[in-house]
Formats: sequence, C-alpha cells, structure tokens
Amino acid sequence: MPSSKSPETLEFSDGELILIDQTRLPQELVTLTCRTVEETHDAIQRLVVRGAPAIGIAAAYGVCLAAKSSGASRQDYLDAADHLATSRPTAVNLFWALDRMRATIAATTDETMLHGKLVEEAKKIHEEDREMCKSIGRNGASLLGQSKCVLTHCNAGGLATSMWGTALAPIYHCHQSGQAIEVYADETRPLLQGGRLTAWELSQAGIPVTVLTDSMSGSLLRTGKIDAVIVGADRIAANGDVANKIGTYPLAVLARYHSVPFYVAAPSSTFDLELADGAGIPIEERSRDEVAEPLGVCAVPDAAKVMNPAFDVTPAELVDCLITERGLIPKPDRKKVAEHFGRTLAH
Ligand code: MRU
Repeated sequence: MPSSKSPETLEFSDGELILIDQTRLPQELVTLTCRTVEETHDAIQRLVVRGAPAIGIAAAYGVCLAAKSSGASRQDYLDAADHLATSRPTAVNLFWALDRMRATIAATTDETMLHGKLVEEAKKIHEEDREMCKSIGRNGASLLGQSKCVLTHCNAGGLATSMWGTALAPIYHCHQSGQAIEVYADETRPLLQGGRLTAWELSQAGIPVTVLTDSMSGSLLRTGKIDAVIVGADRIAANGDVANKIGTYPLAVLARYHSVPFYVAAPSSTFDLELADGAGIPIEERSRDEVAEPLGVCAVPDAAKVMNPAFDVTPAELVDCLITERGLIPKPDRKKVAEHFGRTLAH
C-alpha cells in the first residue's frame, strides 16, 4: 500500500482522474492524469491502472469524464460506458462498475442532475472498495494467524484497489497487529506485477518481501518454508472456479501437491454468478511484444509464434478457501458460493 505521503492509486479531483502510473514502478513514482473517456480507456488497456477492483473504479470515474469531451447528454454517458467496457475483458469488476453507472443513468430522470449523480455513484464505488479491503483483511487474517511466510502471485494489493488490496489485505492486517509475517512474491511474467508492484508496495509498508522467478515456486514450496499461498482474482464463477493472473493455476497445483493451503481473496464484485463455471470466463490475450520484447529487449526470434494469455483458470477443487468481505467460503463449490450470497439454487 502506498504510504500516506504517496499519491493514491487513483483519485478523482476537479473533474480529473489521477492515477499512479503503474507502468513506471518501481523506477519512479509518477501520476498520469486522465481528462477524457479515451484517456481512461487507454490507461486501463495499457495497465497504467490495473487489478480487478481498481479497473472498476477507474472505469466508473471514466464515465464521468464524458462530461468534458462532449455535451454530456444521457447518450454520451451511455456511449462512454460501452466504450470503457471494451478496455479489458476478464476482470468482471469492470462490467459490474459500469452496470452501476448505467443504472444511475437510468434512475436519473433530470438530465441536468446526471453528472453530479454519476460522480456521486463513482465515489460510492470507490469508498465501498476501501471498506471491502478492511473486511477482507480482517477475514483473511483469521486464516493467516499462525503464518510466518506467505507466497503470492501478481499484485492484489493497494495498487490493485483503493487501499489494502485483496490478497495483501490479510497480510497488512497481520503486520499491523504486530504479527511477524514475510512475503515471497512471484515476479509474474511477462509484465512483472509481482517483482515491480507487490515488492514495491510491501517494501513501502515495511513488510519483508523476497522476489522469486515464477519457475522457482515449486522448489520453494518443497522446502516447507511457505505456510500459505494467497492470491487475488479477476473473476470467480458460480462454482468457485477462479480466473487470476497467468501462473496462478500451476501455483495452485503445486500448493496442493505440497499440502500448502491455497487461498483466494476477492470482493463480491469479482463474482460472476451468471457463469456456471470457469470455462465461460473470457481470457484476455495480450500483445506479442510483452513476451517477445521484455523491457524492450528482443527475447524471441521473429520466426517464433508467441502465446500471451493474461489469465488462467484455477478449478475450485484446488482452492482451500475463498475470502470475501462477507466472510469465508471454505472448500468452495456451487452450493456454498450460492449460500454465501444468499441465493437458493434452482436444483
Ligand atoms: O493484468 P493485471 O495486472 O490487471 O492482473 C491483476 C491480477 O491478476 C490480480 O491478481 C487481480 O486483478 C486481483 S487484484 C485485487
């Protein structure tokens, strides 16, 4: 989590969306200001702002920016929401936040009130996210009470949300309660969110962190040093299958093989209860360059094809517990996920 002196992950002020430019960390801590819908779309697509909850909040503010680039009719705001929905496909928080903005448009009959109501709703989504982080921190800490060493993948911390994050929230909670806890962070190929972002924000918070290449996690788990693996999620299906950063699935398999508990922390807004299982989750395929030219260096011959899916799906049976702001779902399945959200199953 950035320190109190750092800029916020995202901030909406004077009709502008100010983002920590996460593509520049850890070399430099700088912000990027979005003044239009298009600039917000670009910032989400380029991963200036990333992580499922942060993408949703940024998109909500992005809708408000339609006011600047146009005459801001009802249709302009709806068009902004439709356009922002094309920025990234996997994190369902994006579509959840945009649906809330569309519902606000539908509920506001007086067009002169529309901008104010939309800013209000976006700020509400932002504020709820802070509360969500605290609750996930508390709930997850009940599982990490005895843990000294925790392994994580990608970045599901303050840079991916408005406050403590999801997977990192229980770690911040334990650290604040005086528990000695240290983190091993997979570097997370190809864009190094673990090495660049998780290691940066944990260091800022004074939590010991060690970065390892993704291919080292099996050997590390074999040593018995890791008490738990905890990751975030971009979309969780009704049966508990989890889409998260590419590399999460093999980590879950390794954790099970080595009898290390595997936890997934995510807010309600990351659940897609309309999807029966993970097979229906759209997986973003990103550009060849991210793999073929890491840090601008040619690493793959032109003749070779490249695969670059940004996410994978971990089956629910490999998840020991889902942690949400509402509580815990141990050994998740369709019935337990439905019960957690107060839904009754048709059969
Ligand atoms: O491509 P990214 O950096 O947006 O991927 C982020 C992740 O996979 C996170 O683990 C996930 O969004 C959870 S963030 C609280």
